[in-house]
Amino acid sequence: MFREGVRLRCVTCGSLYPPNPRLFTCRSCGGLLEVVTPVDSGFEWGRVRARRFGVWRYRELLPLAEWVNPISLGEGGTPLVKVVRAAGPHVFVKFEGSNPTGSFKDRGMTVGVTIAKGLGVEGVVVASTGNTAASAAAYAARAGLRCLVYLPRGGVARGKLAQALLHGAEVVEVDGFFDDALELVLEEYVERSYSKLYPLNSVNPWRLEGQKTLAFELVDELGNTPDVVVVPVGNAGNISAIWKGFRELRDLGVISGTPRMIGVQATGAAPLAKTWSTGSRELQVVEEPRTIASAIRIGRPVNWVKALKAVEESRGALLTVSDEEILEAIKMLARLEGLGVEPSSAASLAGYLKALEEGLADRGETVVLVATGHALKDPDIVRLLVEHGDI
Ligand code: F0G
Repeated sequence: MFREGVRLRCVTCGSLYPPNPRLFTCRSCGGLLEVVTPVDSGFEWGRVRARRFGVWRYRELLPLAEWVNPISLGEGGTPLVKVVRAAGPHVFVKFEGSNPTGSFKDRGMTVGVTIAKGLGVEGVVVASTGNTAASAAAYAARAGLRCLVYLPRGGVARGKLAQALLHGAEVVEVDGFFDDALELVLEEYVERSYSKLYPLNSVNPWRLEGQKTLAFELVDELGNTPDVVVVPVGNAGNISAIWKGFRELRDLGVISGTPRMIGVQATGAAPLAKTWSTGSRELQVVEEPRTIASAIRIGRPVNWVKALKAVEESRGALLTVSDEEILEAIKMLARLEGLGVEPSSAASLAGYLKALEEGLADRGETVVLVATGHALKDPDIVRLLVEHGDI
């Protein structure tokens, strides 16, 4: 199923493994794994640009063999919109809300569910704050697979829950936070190598391969590397995946420089930003994460080691923004730019404005704000804004 030369590598100790779709952590040190794709895969802009704009345009840089037929809904190829009024003349929003299920998760799910289908499993399983569940449910439906989702009870925005149910997911509600739901999935399905359901959380390095294509699209469309990319951070898979995409283009000689990666967390759910600002080598866990941005209400991000590396290697930063700043950024994007995003996505704009204040970004730089999910995911936020007389 995998391209010749593909390997798994431990991000902590560097151990290398053959491409095993069920190996998620290092056998010698327990560290996270990342996929290593061969550099001689025949990537050429001329060839790839003849294909539809989206995840599968960059097939040569994905780990799946050429003969594999993807389970696809036309994911990726999302709009890159200049947001002059909200943020300035050199700032763009990458609007991931226009993916098939309304979030960036579809980029990873097309790869993950294609692998699950190839493995011949009965279905897929995820823990989720909502978007992963919605995406897994849709792609599993398309593949003719079961989808089991573990959700924090009361912690999932209505649009996302509706999507999971619509596409036929079996829902298990967990008393607690996303972190508790993920722990159950890791114990039940990852550590025990349960064979009937394939785990597709972002601890699965194969799924993240699809998400790295956001970096490819930015370079493809801008014709250059942006100076800064701002990403909301929850379980920290996406910032790691996007950084990996840039690293790979640099290693291929396609780009010479790489952007600074700025990760943004909500003040009440900021384990990584806290770890970063204290310079600690141990994750500063948040036991009871709180924020209106339910997608990133996460206290123990599983990919924290990868995310810290991304920020360090790229000379970026991790920032926090308050719920009020997030709500203000939602309004700015909606009213000044016509972009409807969910709360966690607006954290990118709020984070950029903070980065300007703190001297971590400059108005002359080309900046991309990743808007991870669509406003319709969380309609109750709009009601909240209306009731408070804010809009
Ligand atoms: N933005 C949105 C809209 C999300 O749904 C998520 C994560 C993030 C940002 C953060 O991305 O976890 O890779 O750092 N949502 C996950 C889910 C946790 O279950 O849907 P991350």
